Amino acid sequence: MNDRFQVDVALGDRSYPIYIGAGVMAQGELLARHISGGQVAVFSNETVAPLYLDRLLQALGRDYQIDVFTMPDGEEHKNLDSYASAMDFLLEHRHSRSTTLIALGGGVVGDLTGFVAATFQRGVDFIQVPTTLLAQVDSSVGGKTAVNHPRGKNMIGAFYQPRCVLADTTVFDTLPDREYRAGLAEVVKYGIIVDADFFRWLDDSAESCLARRPDAVAQAVRRSCELKAAVVSADERESGLRAVLNFGHTFGHAIETLTGYTRYLHGEAVAMGMVMASDLSARQGLLSWAEAHEIRQMLASFALPVIPPPLGAQAMIQAMGADKKVLNGKLRLILAEAIGRVRVTEEVDMSALRHTLMAGERLCHG
Ligand code: NAD
Ligand code: GLY
Repeated sequence: MNDRFQVDVALGDRSYPIYIGAGVMAQGELLARHISGGQVAVFSNETVAPLYLDRLLQALGRDYQIDVFTMPDGEEHKNLDSYASAMDFLLEHRHSRSTTLIALGGGVVGDLTGFVAATFQRGVDFIQVPTTLLAQVDSSVGGKTAVNHPRGKNMIGAFYQPRCVLADTTVFDTLPDREYRAGLAEVVKYGIIVDADFFRWLDDSAESCLARRPDAVAQAVRRSCELKAAVVSADERESGLRAVLNFGHTFGHAIETLTGYTRYLHGEAVAMGMVMASDLSARQGLLSWAEAHEIRQMLASFALPVIPPPLGAQAMIQAMGADKKVLNGKLRLILAEAIGRVRVTEEVDMSALRHTLMAGERLCHG
């Protein structure tokens, strides 16, 4: 099976390719194609740089002034202090408007680099080289860039598209198992929201995906990117359709908030959130219990948590109300109508929601 692909994100003159497959990061000509000036600043972190920086530098060759900004590892560094340090760094090294920033890392490095690129000298080119599964299938695609504020995640940011994305699947060789599985939650999400056939393929390929077989992984990344690219092309700034990408996220964010962002990885919280969203969809008569159960089983087969901790229905409702997806004071949720089809709705049955939030182990068992 072929395991190298190109997916295009169609956004008029801001369109860009996503190159997917084993070794794409080492292909200097792909990078050169998207670097127009003589300066490059590589952004990475203390974990990823020792693993992949040399490979990237070798691919870049000697034709550019190259400077490397290495940040500490962790979500807590996706903040305005790191942003200011990055700006200082670029100015100290005399980077100009024609520089290109390259993000080498997971979603944290990618989101920060993208926001720096969006604002440094009113905007410079940037390239995403995502090194986690979550970053390859989600955060590096679609142009959402941001840093966190003490009062909320991703509160300061911009929509700003990269010039290209290099999703090199060999980076999964070093990715911890838990991080890899958390990324799979977002892969499953695409099947649920827009592509029932992909969901079935994932079901059939669960073992190969978990074993990180290169052909299966490349297919999973490719299809996820195709689906995300289609959604983003139709609604870049989330005025409608793009919200479907948040399936399970309102529940997931509430779990993350109430557990202090330390107990679960984002993808794990989203997995439980998708189970809860499916349960509520079934309670509201939109989704069959059989399909809700199937969704839960699929996530469980990827060894993702499917039973939320007992956080209290009231606390969850409050935390969900504080979510960004609340419009004009009304709770807006993405609910499933079938595997492969979801709807954005403000018609939330609060009594059904309370039952979902209290159901715990009985979620999706009808
Ligand atoms: P992350 O960037 O923190 O990476 C997870 C961990 O894996 C880190 O410790 C990192 O150093 C390490 N790592 C990365 N690549 C590795 C590799 N190949 N081998 C070994 N270790 C590696 O987390 P993430 O899950 O990639 O991204 C989460 C971030 O993405 C959050 O800040 C979230 O808000 C953001 N996000 C953004 C979007 C978007 O559309 N922009 C979408 C989803 C999530
Ligand atoms: N991760 C959701 C989005 O990109 O819109």
